[in-house]
This record gives sequence, C-alpha cells and structure tokens, in this order.
Amino acid sequence: MNCKQRIGERIYWTSVNDRRKQLFENIWPLPNGVSYNSYLIRDEKCALMDTVESGSDRSYADWVSESLDGRPLDYLIIHHMELDHSGEIENLVQRYPDVKIVGNCKTFRVLEAYFGKRDNLIEVKDGDTLSLGYHNLKFVFTPWVHWPETMMTFDQTDGVLFSGDAFGMFGALDGGVYDDQTDFAFYEDEMRRYYSNIVGKYSPMVQKALAKLRDYPIRTICPLHGLVWRTDPCKVIGLYDRWSSYQGEDGVVVIYASMYGNTAQMADYIARRIAEAGVKKVRVHDVSKTHISYLINDIWRYKGVVLGSCAYNLQMFPLMENLTRELLHMGVKERLLGIFGTYSWNGGGVKNLNAFAEEIGWEVVAPAAEIMGHPEPGKEAACDALAAAMAARLLG
Ligand code: FEO
Repeated sequence: MNCKQRIGERIYWTSVNDRRKQLFENIWPLPNGVSYNSYLIRDEKCALMDTVESGSDRSYADWVSESLDGRPLDYLIIHHMELDHSGEIENLVQRYPDVKIVGNCKTFRVLEAYFGKRDNLIEVKDGDTLSLGYHNLKFVFTPWVHWPETMMTFDQTDGVLFSGDAFGMFGALDGGVYDDQTDFAFYEDEMRRYYSNIVGKYSPMVQKALAKLRDYPIRTICPLHGLVWRTDPCKVIGLYDRWSSYQGEDGVVVIYASMYGNTAQMADYIARRIAEAGVKKVRVHDVSKTHISYLINDIWRYKGVVLGSCAYNLQMFPLMENLTRELLHMGVKERLLGIFGTYSWNGGGVKNLNAFAEEIGWEVVAPAAEIMGHPEPGKEAACDALAAAMAARLLG
C-alpha cells in the first residue's frame, strides 16, 4: 500500500510519515511526527528530487520503481544533504548505477564525506538549466537555508518550486497533502517551530533567498517536509518573509525558572497584569517543563518576551541560562524584553538576565523586577511597572 500521488501530469510525489521518531536531529521533539517528501518527474528524461531518511520506509525504492514504470532513472537532483533526505542515496545508486547525480560543489563535498567518492556527478552553477523534455528546470542556489549546499529547483514549465527544507514543517501529513486539503491552523505552529529551531538562525540568508525567488512565477511549492502548496503558495512565502525578518505578533511570552514557586508567582502576576492591560495573546511557560523548542517557537512568534529567573549558585537557573545562550546563538532580533526574578541571599538570576539583555540588544521596556524571598503583597510595584510598560509598547 502506498500513498503515492501525482502533483502534475508528470510529477509524482511520495511522503514517508514518520511517527516513530521521538526527536528530530536527536534534539527536537516530534509529538505530531514528521514527513519526508520525495518527488519524481517522469519526462523524456526522468529525475528524482531528493530521497528520504534511510530505512524510514521499506517501500520507498518500490515507489521509485513504480513511478518510473520501466524507464531508467536519469538524474538524482540533490537539494540538501542532511540525512533525512539523502539517506536513501546509496540504495538508489546501487539500484540505478547509471543515474547522474546533480548538485553543486558543496553538495558533492558532503556527498563524498557521507557516502565516499562517486562517479556520474553533474555539478551545476546558480542559474543553470536542465531540460527533461517537457519540463525545463532551473537551479536556484539558496545557501544556508539551512546548510551551505542548500539549493532549489524551479520547473519553468509548470511553475513548480522544489524548495528543499524551506517552507517545510514538523508534523506528519494526517490525510491531506495539499494546502487546500487541510486545516492549516493545525500545522502553522509546527511550521513555525520547524522554522525557528532549524532555519531561524539563518534568517538573513532566508531573506536573500526570498529576494531571489521574487521574480519567479511560482504556482506550486514542493518542500521536503509537510504540505505541498498548490493553492496559496504566497501564504507560506509571506510567513517565511515575516519570520525571517523577525516580525512578531502583538503578544507576550512569559518564561520563568523557579525552584519553589516564588518566581512562578511573579510570572503569573505579570502575565495577569499584561492581560488586564489589554494584551490578548499571552503565554506562560515553565522553563523546566516545556521543551526549549516550544519556548523558541513562542519567542519567534511574539514581539514581547518576559524572562524570569531565580538565582542559582550566583547565576541564572541553568535551564534559563541555556535558553538565553541559545537565543544569542540564533541571533533573534527586535524583541521587547522584560526581566524579573527572585533571590534569597546574594542574587544572580536578574543580574545575569540583565547582562543577557545587553548582549542581545533587545529593547528593555522597564527596569527589572527583583524580589527577595516570597513575593508577598506590597512587593508588586516593579512587576506592575514592567507589565504596564510591556502592554503600552505592544498596544501603543
Ligand atoms: Fe530536513 Fe535539513 O533536513
């Protein structure tokens, strides 16, 4: 049984729904699974666009064979060498020893490192074309979206963009394949989580890629993960433009680290005051409970970020420190920041969050709210000021 599908007259699609894997790249949780897409164009010449993760689907090679319908596989076009897409290359090359592997010089460097030296390589340059007969392909280099070798292929005949990881998402395909067959609200969060955690660090390169694609009459987008965009490709391009230019929604994510509940109480108090001031989108997370990928997702989503930490060995709480280090690494920009925390003797949480604020360069909306011990009545003033300042900046 095979969920094969035709994207066009001559373009075949398959997708492996991986609901077994717990962690993508052995770090990012996959509660809704993930899918690996692969496409085959059967034309006068036949070309396969990427493969799938090794061993993720025992029938993948059969799908290639059935889609070819007795024809030879002329080209294997590699848009991205990460192993969730290149894992079946070795099997395919054994099965189709005459296949020509199409990629760029960086593709081949990684290919050799993973699978040894290969013959039958066709190295393409940015803007090169390849005619399959009916379909005329053009290669568009999009380096660092999100690896150095990443590129896309634009089918100039039918306006189909094979986009690699770009425009992909976490989440297995639960029935629908196309953007018009699903309730996208279900996928949007997983798409942003994929973007923010996997691609977001390279947002300036995404902007360059989008600028490059602007002149292409894209009718369909075929990414390597998730939905095929045939009805509203502009929607997903718009989302990528928004996320890669750090445009946040008018909302706030409050993230706290708390050992015995004092900092947690401050978090809820500040969140309540922000909501009372009229901000509707407010989310609160405990850094010890919620996986960092969801925290980063919400930080990418909302303009307002409020971070709170208890002191821990004169530092921030370790998991909050980990989050701040990751944010610096990812280079998230243009957020409004509020800081709060508690201490019992010498402090360290708020002090180090203030140092983080300086390093990342976000606008700090108000002086940090810091409380010694229990946040009992009478100690609210700095929290009130922080909440009011955050709400004013968002609603103003
Ligand atoms: Fe879907 Fe970068 O691999």
